[in-house]
Amino acid sequence: MKQVRKAVIPAAGLGTRVLPATKSIPKEMLPIVDKPAIHYIVEEAVRSGITDILIITNRGKTPIEDYFDHSVELEERLLASGKRELYDELQKLCTMANIQYVRQKETKGLGHAVSCAKSFVGDEPFVVMYGDDVIVGEEPVAKQLIDAYYAYGLPCCGIKEVPREDVVKYSSLKVSPLGGRNYKVTDMIEKPATPEDAFSFFSILGRVLLTPDVFEILERTAPGAGGEIQLTDAMAEFARGAGMTGVDFTGKRYDMGNKLGVLQASIEVGLAHPEIGDGLRAYLKELAQTL
Ligand code: UTP
Repeated sequence: MKQVRKAVIPAAGLGTRVLPATKSIPKEMLPIVDKPAIHYIVEEAVRSGITDILIITNRGKTPIEDYFDHSVELEERLLASGKRELYDELQKLCTMANIQYVRQKETKGLGHAVSCAKSFVGDEPFVVMYGDDVIVGEEPVAKQLIDAYYAYGLPCCGIKEVPREDVVKYSSLKVSPLGGRNYKVTDMIEKPATPEDAFSFFSILGRVLLTPDVFEILERTAPGAGGEIQLTDAMAEFARGAGMTGVDFTGKRYDMGNKLGVLQASIEVGLAHPEIGDGLRAYLKELAQTL
């Protein structure tokens, strides 16, 4: 079995749910305390053993490329003013992984975005890490999926049970338990019309691990829910064939694609932050008394 060393981060969406902020700032660049969302995702990839990352971008996403690149003037200034720690942090940012970029020329959906990674992926398994899903926890979720891939030899998806009324916004999976946090996935549907149409309330959230045969499937996948080429529709073929493994992952997920998710991420990550945690806790306690 081939090692998993590549990750694809689709970050070319329009981010309409976080407008107007996302008119000129990619949602993947929205900060959680002092780092943009996509920084947490790249860190998760690196902690999972990923060495090569492809970020799918489009027009207006150059801040992402600038972020992971050197800023010579800034670095020189930090060194000259003795801010060595900050300098080292910025150096690490540019060197922590081999990051490449490709543009999705039309925003035709997540499935279409992933298909732009075909030549980067070659003949290796790869992890797809949704650019607006930050997942914080002890064990990186990409690593949890990679371990399940080595254990079962099947493409995998990160899954979570969602509230019944919310399943229409996500996907719904037909699952049976395999033991521990793992499930066999034998069918799936994107955005069921009503909760009654759902297989279960398990949905794919944030991370999937795919094999390169997905590209041939994507090429013939017609637009689905919302008129977009849906990754779920392509993965359904894997599920109905040999099956996929669903990993009910550990870790707290923050949806940076919606306004409440952005605030929750800032508050919870802020509370755990060594520099501002105590101050934020004191402020929130004081504020809570006025609510
Ligand atoms: P979403 O569907 O949440 O992103 O896609 P969106 O289209 O930006 O959302 P709204 O509804 O307009 O707010 C999940 C991930 O897939 C990427 C997004 O950038 C996000 O990280 N994506 C989505 C693409 O890269 N290309 C697409 O065509 C669609």
